[in-house]
Amino acid sequence: MNAGERRLVSFAAALVGDAAKLSVAEIKLTAHARPVDSHLIAHARAEILAGKDLLGTEFCSLRSAKQRRQRGATYTPSPIVDAMVVWAHAEIPTPARVLDPGAGSGRFLVAAARRFPDAELIAVDVDPLATLMLRANATVHGFADRLSVHLVDYRQFTLPAITRPTLFIGNPPYVRHHNIGEQWKTWFSDTASRLGFTASKLAGLHIHFFLKTRELAQPGDYGAFITAAEWLDVNYGSLVRRMLADGLGGTAVHIIDPKAQPFADALTTGAITCFRVGNQPSEITMRSVSSLGDLAPLGRGRTVARHELATAPKWSVFVRERTHAPAGFIELGELFRVHRGQVTGGNDVWIDNDAARDIPKQYKPFTVTRARELLAAGAELTSNKGLHRVIDLPADLDAFDVDERKAVQRFLAWAKRHGAHEGYIATHRRAWWSVGLRAPAPILCTYMARRPPAFVRNQVKARHINIAHGLYPREPLSDAALAAVLVYLRRHMSTTGGRTYAGGLVKFEPKELERILIPRLEDIHGYLAQNETAPAALDGSGAGI
Ligand SMILES: C[S@@+](CC[C@H](N)C(=O)[O-])C[C@H]1O[C@@H](n2cnc3c(N)ncnc32)[C@H](O)[C@@H]1O
Repeated sequence: MNAGERRLVSFAAALVGDAAKLSVAEIKLTAHARPVDSHLIAHARAEILAGKDLLGTEFCSLRSAKQRRQRGATYTPSPIVDAMVVWAHAEIPTPARVLDPGAGSGRFLVAAARRFPDAELIAVDVDPLATLMLRANATVHGFADRLSVHLVDYRQFTLPAITRPTLFIGNPPYVRHHNIGEQWKTWFSDTASRLGFTASKLAGLHIHFFLKTRELAQPGDYGAFITAAEWLDVNYGSLVRRMLADGLGGTAVHIIDPKAQPFADALTTGAITCFRVGNQPSEITMRSVSSLGDLAPLGRGRTVARHELATAPKWSVFVRERTHAPAGFIELGELFRVHRGQVTGGNDVWIDNDAARDIPKQYKPFTVTRARELLAAGAELTSNKGLHRVIDLPADLDAFDVDERKAVQRFLAWAKRHGAHEGYIATHRRAWWSVGLRAPAPILCTYMARRPPAFVRNQVKARHINIAHGLYPREPLSDAALAAVLVYLRRHMSTTGGRTYAGGLVKFEPKELERILIPRLEDIHGYLAQNETAPAALDGSGAGI
């Protein structure tokens, strides 16, 4: 334990005082505690009573964002906590219990303790330092005697059923599926199917928390969770969408613009989801806000009928300000499918290296493997120079003659020694050795940068991995048409329409690119001739959420 953490533990332990209720893991932590000057403790107590999460804030500065990300520990800003607790109070003012799954330092429970003076408060978390901070806050705020702390994975948590309502409230940890163990993915799909839903193994931990809540909750319970918003649109989010439309009883979704920083250390779009369990809602309220000041009250929004939600493949469309295409313009997606390049599952193995030197060249096509290769190319990629080759073997190795096969086997033995057959991607493709690059796309583009996407004509038929998207014409297009679309995109593309991520990165998902507006093909040459220099960007389709 470093000096900063020891100091934090020392303060928390001193504020808790009574060690009788601590779990074994918390006691182990407090063994590192040092005595703290009583004046400093008195000062800390006063600050906490004044409404500051002194310990939680210290925790967030001691552990880097990267360290906290492993457990999805991003603590919630107070305007969000307050808006959610006020909403809950307006829904049902006297819940019997308030449960925060992933309670952290207790920001939600501190606010709930004040709003619901008679409720039992339940905290679940896997981090003993978090629960120690929570206990310290509870002691200072005077609700330690009605708080129970469970140092356990929420997915293993059990909750006795009672007749009065339980409020589920909090910020479930955001951990991507790559960092979720196979046993939990199995738990997820088993639990989903037991409850009558189908589940994707690509779901992150926050989706597991929704499912667990659905499993624990009884009709009459209610809740609000703040999460990243991507479940509104992506495939693995369909489980949450279906649960909200059926059983988990969604009542409202509020989308928070990334610029409002709903999560302190990530520029991510947030979504507050409110639900009344057992409800089969006839409609859900949806709304988007651009600042945290606009958040409360959570009762506002546009109503969307259940049947609309049930049939919509994406929910963000219901909050998007639709900019209708001006006359003469169409969405890029009418002409092109946009596909992200293939993930190799291990660039050290699959991007050319000595071990693959004897593999026939036709199985090692030149490939764009770094965004900077496209940025450096300008409007056209006219040479393979500087591009790497990616080893792209067929799933069926019978295609090789005897000598080639020996070379392939040597390479695969080497790849295995480097664990290439074990990763998530490798174990989920048809054959672990077959990367499966997409066909060459006539136009390639970058999609994640602090600048607009760079569109490049792929004259050398290079393949691309997942650092680029490829634009594939739905119907054959002439060279002149491709060239005109390219010129238009290069001139008029801005960063609007993408999603903003940590540090101001702007990312365009394939579907977002497909929503960019471009002149109809029959007008595009005329348009370009009349607008030699770039006027205001016309990509503002309001794409993204
Ligand atoms: C996003 S933080 C929220 C903390 C606090 N509720 C707040 O909003 O400020 C998520 C919390 O979940 C905890 N956590 C992560 N995985 C968990 C799991 N499987 N079960 C229970 N808690 C978990 C983390 O330790 C972290 O404290």
